[in-house]
Amino acid sequence: MAEVLLEDLSGVGPATAEKLREAGFASVEALAVASPAQLAACADVGESTAAKIIASARAAADIGGFETGDQVMERRKLVGKVTTGSETFDALMGGGFETQSIVEMYGEFGSGKTQVAHQAAVNVQLPEEEGGLNGSVVIIDTENTFRPERIAQMVEGLPASDRPREPEEFLRNIHVARAYNSNHQILLAESALDLAEKLKKSGKPVRLLIVDSLTAHFRAEYVGRGTLADRQQKLNKHLHTLMRFADLNNAVVLVTNQVMAKPDAFFGDPTKPVGGHIVGHTATFRIYLRKSKGEKRIARLVDSPNLPDGEAVFSVTTAGLLD
Ligand code: GTP
Ligand code: MG
Repeated sequence: MAEVLLEDLSGVGPATAEKLREAGFASVEALAVASPAQLAACADVGESTAAKIIASARAAADIGGFETGDQVMERRKLVGKVTTGSETFDALMGGGFETQSIVEMYGEFGSGKTQVAHQAAVNVQLPEEEGGLNGSVVIIDTENTFRPERIAQMVEGLPASDRPREPEEFLRNIHVARAYNSNHQILLAESALDLAEKLKKSGKPVRLLIVDSLTAHFRAEYVGRGTLADRQQKLNKHLHTLMRFADLNNAVVLVTNQVMAKPDAFFGDPTKPVGGHIVGHTATFRIYLRKSKGEKRIARLVDSPNLPDGEAVFSVTTAGLLD
């Protein structure tokens, strides 16, 4: 299928195309799912022009309509799976972390959320025969917990293979950005769409986006009852950007979430993840992680559209995630 350029859309000249790209709308697909107000605000065009641009993007991208069940089945055939590194954890997830989905991992500190994310960043780069998607990775790091050294250890710890593996090679395919606050985090998710668009034809398209942690900034910045609605609205918009990322790139979006450390008046249950039902309803899979003896961790699948709930025990070792 020939690629449609922004310039091919009616109402979009070279200057507008440039503005749109700068605003993060790198492709016709990205434009097709934008709202006129959103476009008007960030690309400096009137709302009626914005509406026209979106309409022609929708026509060109051929998205936004109803699909029949068999078409959905066709699209589902493109779903890829990334191995977690542990057979029992993979089995729990129906074969691994699924693309076209948001996977939320929540649990208390030290439960292994960041470790699982690091392992996924390694594994997604493997060829399909080895449980990967031959893809690259984008990480939005809000807590400064990305460690290249840990990636290198995990690469060394991979099961034996005939293919040569260089930790540097794996690190080159991981694009990391620190997010300094929630607004910055939201913007980075939008630039991730851009970066993924650029890497689409690189031979290593982005197949995994990690946001670690999804909720920490939101939780720290929006304190108290009066700010809750505002927080949930921002979080909701952010999650929709992430879902769009998963769909447009046939990628896994892996996000981490903390559980409330102490019960407070407005949130109640101390083992409930932050963000409540907003995150819960948007995430495709929710995994509750908890510590067990020593290196052992327990993953519980809490919510999934097509898999039974259940638990898996795995280990976090120096070599990475293992059974
Ligand atoms: P927060 O981000 O604080 O909420 O925690 P988290 O759930 O992200 O925890 P994280 O994934 O950082 O897990 C940290 C734990 O992983 C440590 O307490 C160790 O038990 C284990 N771990 C981390 N690095 C290594 C390592 O190199 N070797 C081994 N054996 N275990 C490790
Ligand atoms: Mg962490």
